[in-house]
Amino acid sequence: MELKLWLPILIVFGMAESLGTSKDWSIKVPSKIPVLQGSCVDIPCRYKYPKTKKILNRWRGFWKRGNTLVASSFPSLKLTDEFHKRTRMSGYLQSGNCSWQLFGVRTTDTGPFHFRIELPQHKSNSFLKNMVTLNVFRVPAPPIMTVAVQDKVTATCTVTHVCPSSPPKFSWNHYGKRETKSKKPANKWLWKTTSTLTFTPEESDFNKPIICTVTFFGRKTTKGSVIPSRRRVTKYGVNI
Ligand SMILES: *[C@@H]1O[C@H](CO)[C@@H](O)[C@H](O)[C@H]1NC(C)=O
Repeated sequence: MELKLWLPILIVFGMAESLGTSKDWSIKVPSKIPVLQGSCVDIPCRYKYPKTKKILNRWRGFWKRGNTLVASSFPSLKLTDEFHKRTRMSGYLQSGNCSWQLFGVRTTDTGPFHFRIELPQHKSNSFLKNMVTLNVFRVPAPPIMTVAVQDKVTATCTVTHVCPSSPPKFSWNHYGKRETKSKKPANKWLWKTTSTLTFTPEESDFNKPIICTVTFFGRKTTKGSVIPSRRRVTKYGVNI
């Protein structure tokens, strides 16, 4: 009777003690990521294990949804049909990188997913308190666009995404110099990719929409447009 009463308290106390100290298990993963259906997601992840003097040379990493294995550090390990050939763990587990990728995202891929690490010469842990949920949406948002008119027209077209390994592709309905840049995000997962179109305008280019079409990994597309106006040019004294 007395033991039964004390046992849960001891377990809770033991767990509380094992959280948060630098000598212990810890993990950094986003808790919620919005993902476009059909596209891919790179889920960044860092973890730490309790210090040890033992020599470690074996590392086994797994991502799971409940008891279902969805990704592992052994490419040869058989996954269920649901996740077969759709996932990859590409970071170095040795250096604390537990990042993974999911391709061809389905509406059923919401998770929650958790990481499990096994160090057979030391300890193992499942990070059940730090799960990742995916918010799968079907329709991509239109791009954010800008246009500036000086002696040249400069139009930009920007989208966010979570698939930096296969960033979106851009096309414009107008000739000109094109340049695409991706920006590594502060939050580590929501990337911003911008395409910039620059051209010297002709009279016929004004007040006509410049259209940007964005194709995401998985082939879904979105469009936006901007209209360069002549008035700005007149102001700069170029085309009176
Ligand atoms: C983790 O590994 C992935 C895949 O190799 C890499 O893209 C990412 O930059 C690594 N993260 C860190 C913090 O080193």
